Amino acid sequence: MSFIADRVDAALEWSVAGSFTRVGSALRRRLDHWAPLDERSLAGRVVAITGATSGLGLEAAWAFARMGATVEIIARNAAKAEATCVEIRQATGNPKLGFVVADTGDLAALRRAALDLVERRPAIHVLIHNAGALDDLRQTSPQGIELTVASQVVGPFLLTGLLLPALRAGAPARVLWVSSGGMYSEPLSVDRLEMSAGDYQGTTAYARAKRAQVTLAELWAKRLAADRIAVHSLHPGWADTPGVARSLPRFRRVVGPLLRTPAEGADTLIWLAVDDGAPLQESGRFWLDRRPRPLHRLASTRRSDTPEERERLWSWAVKKSGLVI
Ligand SMILES: NC(=O)c1ccc[n+]([C@@H]2O[C@H](COP(=O)([O-])OP(=O)(O)OC[C@H]3O[C@@H](n4cnc5c(N)ncnc54)[C@H](OP(=O)(O)O)[C@@H]3O)[C@@H](O)[C@H]2O)c1
Repeated sequence: MSFIADRVDAALEWSVAGSFTRVGSALRRRLDHWAPLDERSLAGRVVAITGATSGLGLEAAWAFARMGATVEIIARNAAKAEATCVEIRQATGNPKLGFVVADTGDLAALRRAALDLVERRPAIHVLIHNAGALDDLRQTSPQGIELTVASQVVGPFLLTGLLLPALRAGAPARVLWVSSGGMYSEPLSVDRLEMSAGDYQGTTAYARAKRAQVTLAELWAKRLAADRIAVHSLHPGWADTPGVARSLPRFRRVVGPLLRTPAEGADTLIWLAVDDGAPLQESGRFWLDRRPRPLHRLASTRRSDTPEERERLWSWAVKKSGLVI
């Protein structure tokens, strides 16, 4: 990395908006000489991805299919998943697209989907936890867990555990968590993670869940190092997707043309999934624009991120998910 690229990158990172908008990805792409990804071959590799029926996940599924991967979509809406598979198969000529149905907040559905998936795909090379939403209305999962946490923390935690045999069979393998820059605003706090009906706020619940995702990715990375399974988290910056249009219409209007395209937002996710350099040689990092990023921007969130709180999060996730490891 050149001195100039490092300085520009640091200035962008410091400015937040410069980093998260398409300005960040456009400058970094040029300064860091990003290698194009579309020419890679993923023939023989199996990628399982949640949330691939819209936005960033859909963009990534197209890219993986173009590269010749076997793509397994884990979706809550069977009709949407089927339509996505048909469209991608027809346009890319890659017939190896399939899907299983599960809401990532429904632990029983995830268990069924994982069984189905492992039966068809005994070796998985990449597992991507991308499904996510910011919901202003508090809901609970079929197991009674607040839905933001159920679908973005507990469910993905369980799915990782259930797919471990397949990931071990696919090693060197990777597990990727699509978090959010919003997580910078919230400290790690197990006690405040699942918000009650009295204090629920969508943006806070979302940011806390995204913080927990990043921490869990690190904890998984340590536990799976000997299995040759790399685990990373990332954030996509601010990208113009149906999810942003639905949940943050005012923000979308204000940032407008500076929002990243879905392709720009999905770039680091796709790179982490396909590049055999840093994404496999390192583990447990948090990425944006193909570079590792700090876990904290605020002293207050850094202070609460203790080894004890981290281990509490792990125990909490094991208990909530019912995962037997
Ligand atoms: N776009 C951004 O600027 C941005 C910024 C930071 C982080 N992110 C993160 O990036 C990821 C993708 O977001 P996006 O912007 O692409 O949103 P999106 O367009 O709304 O797509 C979200 C995808 O997740 C699926 N999904 C949501 N909740 C689910 C659940 N409980 N079970 C199963 N599938 C579920 C959706 O399924 P349906 O099609 O059935 O609705 C859809 O396929 C999310 O984790 C989000 O938090 C996005």
